[in-house]
Amino acid sequence: MKILVTGTSGQLARSLSEQAKGQAEIVLVGRPDLDLENLATFAPVLKSVAPDMVINAAAHTGVDQQEDEPERAFRLNAEAPADLARLTRLAGIPLIQVSTDYVFDGSSARPYVETDLPNPQTVYGRSKLAGEDAVRSGNPDHLIVRTAWVVSRHGRNFVKTMLSLAATRDHLKVVADQFGNPTEAHDLADGLLAAATLWRREGGFPKGLYHLAGQGRASWHELASHVLAVSASLGGPSATVEPVGSDQWPAKAARPANSELNSDAFASDFGYRAGQWKDRVRALVVELRAST
Ligand SMILES: NC(=O)c1ccc[n+]([C@@H]2O[C@H](COP(=O)([O-])OP(=O)(O)OC[C@H]3O[C@@H](n4cnc5c(N)ncnc54)[C@H](OP(=O)(O)O)[C@@H]3O)[C@@H](O)[C@H]2O)c1
Repeated sequence: MKILVTGTSGQLARSLSEQAKGQAEIVLVGRPDLDLENLATFAPVLKSVAPDMVINAAAHTGVDQQEDEPERAFRLNAEAPADLARLTRLAGIPLIQVSTDYVFDGSSARPYVETDLPNPQTVYGRSKLAGEDAVRSGNPDHLIVRTAWVVSRHGRNFVKTMLSLAATRDHLKVVADQFGNPTEAHDLADGLLAAATLWRREGGFPKGLYHLAGQGRASWHELASHVLAVSASLGGPSATVEPVGSDQWPAKAARPANSELNSDAFASDFGYRAGQWKDRVRALVVELRAST
């Protein structure tokens, strides 16, 4: 099975490439050959790669930046997936679109399930929700997977930011009143590959929309504290981590207070669950320390 993945240096794109060994041939394509802001680049790439499936792992992921450039956010996160859906439908192949916990407003007292009504509060969340709608209506053979708080050794992410801040500071302030599910990009990749394998075996996906995120809930403060405790135990950078409220940490985009996702439907239909966030983050910090 040949899978075209959009993006070349993204956390998920690189993790898919690493995890697929023996299961699928992954072809990563990014700028300038495939540019989400230039729809004319899509058809030639699809023609030359001739994949059995497309995973759209590329996106505009700068949550605060998008508040200042909503048109660009919608071009990348909604118009591009719409055109990928159109072209994959014409080619008779499925499209997997990756979406976000930020489609929810964060007011739920329990983890969100797929039937909960989205109510995005940011440009990022609104543009990704528009991308979901576009894929749903553009290609009936689709899978939309919402994930959350993605971390890995690749790209830029919260774990790497905490480690680099702790290398130069003794004391960090981190938001303690926003909760979600830290997710290792390699776990997300394994889940998408399990879905792709089932699609090949069964000729379709059971349902179109799923949640897939790491097990267990954390606040950003808990995540930072865990990262730096593991790092300290390995002789790496450490710092004290002071819990602060969102009101003390002004950001352009207001994050959901609780965007925890319930991933039970994905586990039941595809037989895959992401790891416990504490275990996966510990392993990641060990890996990052070993590579320094
Ligand atoms: N990161 C998170 O915490 C998080 C949380 C929830 C959902 N998600 C979703 O999960 C998916 C994967 O996220 P990630 O963490 O892997 O993202 P990432 O590390 O920020 O990577 C983004 C990717 O998008 C590509 N990209 C950006 N602009 C592009 C353009 N104009 N044309 C082509 N490619 C472009 C980048 O290309 P280059 O390779 O050229 O840099 C990169 O490969 C995204 O759909 C994201 O919305 C992420």
